[in-house]
Amino acid sequence: MALLGVNIDHVATLRQARKGIQPEPVHAAAIAEQNGADQITIHLREDRRHIQLRDVKLLRATVQTKLNLEMAATPEMVTIAVEMRPDTVTLVPERREELTTEGGLLLSREMEPMIKELQGAGIEVSVFIEPNMEIIKLASRLGVDAVEIHTGHYANLTAPAEIKEEVERIHKAAKLVHSAGMRAVAGHGLHYHNTQALVALDIFEEFNIGHSIISRAIFTGLAEAVQAMKFIVE
Ligand code: PXP
Repeated sequence: MALLGVNIDHVATLRQARKGIQPEPVHAAAIAEQNGADQITIHLREDRRHIQLRDVKLLRATVQTKLNLEMAATPEMVTIAVEMRPDTVTLVPERREELTTEGGLLLSREMEPMIKELQGAGIEVSVFIEPNMEIIKLASRLGVDAVEIHTGHYANLTAPAEIKEEVERIHKAAKLVHSAGMRAVAGHGLHYHNTQALVALDIFEEFNIGHSIISRAIFTGLAEAVQAMKFIVE
């Protein structure tokens, strides 16, 4: 059975739209945990467009499952992570102009000291990469604990033949991750119709999913929210 990491960045995005105090990501994390999430995933971006440093601090103090901090591979972020002690750090690429994390991390030998520093602080290190055999081999040589395969390309495909081919590519990549002794994780763009095919591969230990869950929550919660306000105004 795979673990579910719920990415709550989008709750923070909604809060930052007004730069206020609602909705509170800590509340989102608690609800996610109470309903089966095995992990809370957050991305502290360089431009702080959604998750803020105070969120990381509060979530570290309140998350009772596991906290997975996605971050760029920079000395500034490593210092923050070592101080905050998330259970896992997922190293991701970051470009200021992107809407979301596009493409996998360009892993390099230069990242080894950062990986070792994080692991030395007792933090599991995962890398978010494309399903590419050479990059997975490098991840193994760098001694990372887990590989999160970027499923964004898969999620964008619509032609059945292309989807099948991409699932095979992801499967091959996940098998290599697994045989190299690393944890195989998948994430990005996964939703209520495309996650099943990856679960069926029975190789991923964990899925990190955000946008589709928060999007669905708007509609499953909207009726109650309108009724509550109607009750106040009538
Ligand atoms: N995993 C990683 C490494 C990510 O960067 C993201 C997006 O922040 C996700 C998973 C979740 O993606 P989505 O919000 O599309 O489900």
